[in-house]
Amino acid sequence: MAIYNFAAGPAMLPKDVMKRAEAEFTDYKNCGSGIMELSHRGKLFQPVIDRAEANVRELLNISDDYAVIFVQGGASLQFSMLAMNLLNGGTADYIDTGVWSNKAAKEAQMFGTVNVAASSKETKYDHIPAASEWKLTPGAAYMHITSNNTVAGTQYQTLPTPVAGVPLIADMSSDIMSRMFNVNDFGMIYAGAQKNLGPSGVALVIIRKDLVERTDNSKVPTMLRYSTYVENGSMFNTPPTFAIYMLALVTDWFKEQGGIPALEARNNAKAAYLYDFLNGSDFYKSPVAPADRSRMNVVFRTPSEELDAKFVAEAKENGLTDLKGHRLVGGCRASIYNAMPMEGVQALVEFMKKFELANK
Ligand SMILES: Cc1ncc(COP(=O)(O)O)c(C=O)c1O
Repeated sequence: MAIYNFAAGPAMLPKDVMKRAEAEFTDYKNCGSGIMELSHRGKLFQPVIDRAEANVRELLNISDDYAVIFVQGGASLQFSMLAMNLLNGGTADYIDTGVWSNKAAKEAQMFGTVNVAASSKETKYDHIPAASEWKLTPGAAYMHITSNNTVAGTQYQTLPTPVAGVPLIADMSSDIMSRMFNVNDFGMIYAGAQKNLGPSGVALVIIRKDLVERTDNSKVPTMLRYSTYVENGSMFNTPPTFAIYMLALVTDWFKEQGGIPALEARNNAKAAYLYDFLNGSDFYKSPVAPADRSRMNVVFRTPSEELDAKFVAEAKENGLTDLKGHRLVGGCRASIYNAMPMEGVQALVEFMKKFELANK
């Protein structure tokens, strides 16, 4: 039986990538050691991190005005690192669209003033507040969004237009490289790797070089300054070598697939297939406003919590794993990142049809 893993992250990786990593696991390029056993300063690892960076630059069409760095501590460390480096007593605008943007705003409060310019908290984060309602601060240090809300299942269908002079910052942890966007619209983009890009252990940060200069070095510890990573090729200290190697393999695979536009077309088709089915069913319900539904994390409910639990358990018996919704919101969630093939989504819909018939 084929197994399809719908986990929100760490999440499934492309099968071909896993096979390649398996083949190289104990003996990388016939050197007798696995990649994770090799020095980060050695001849074999440098080309790996260089390739990871070059792939990211090529796939997202990133200019020399931006640095691409690899940082440990996940996306959660970026919540505070961002504010430590770029807020420095000023005011930043945050659009509160879910638990992760909420956490990001809380961390930033330690380093300056946070203006929650808009929030959908009152309606359980079921939509993205319209840009026309945002109460922005003139001259803010930056403005922060979460492009895809992994728990609530919402996503900016169109990314915001930047305000002149205010760097736009995005947590793209759960939709980076799932669709094309213009990096030049952003001051900084960050993403934990463990959804679309590889295993956990590394966060990708793309930052405009002039912003790196804003840090007050007398206040920010060495390892928490962006400049430390930029100036040392992400190797001031020992980087997470295995996670970076996997990110290089995953992004190689993205290129082989035809790059982000090809992945985007596939992601759109997968999401449309699942949402079309949900829209046509009176058994399953999506709590999310149709215009803001995520193409990465599809959340839905059966008529009761008991049936949700039964659905998740029986789906697992049928090879469709990790469909339980986030513990904060319950229900069901199918995460369908770049590595999830259309066949996985079709298998899920077939199972949903059978489950509906048996439990109506
Ligand atoms: C949108 C978003 N931001 C941040 C995080 C936190 O990431 P990490 O566990 O890498 O700190 C997550 C985790 O799921 C997420 O989905």
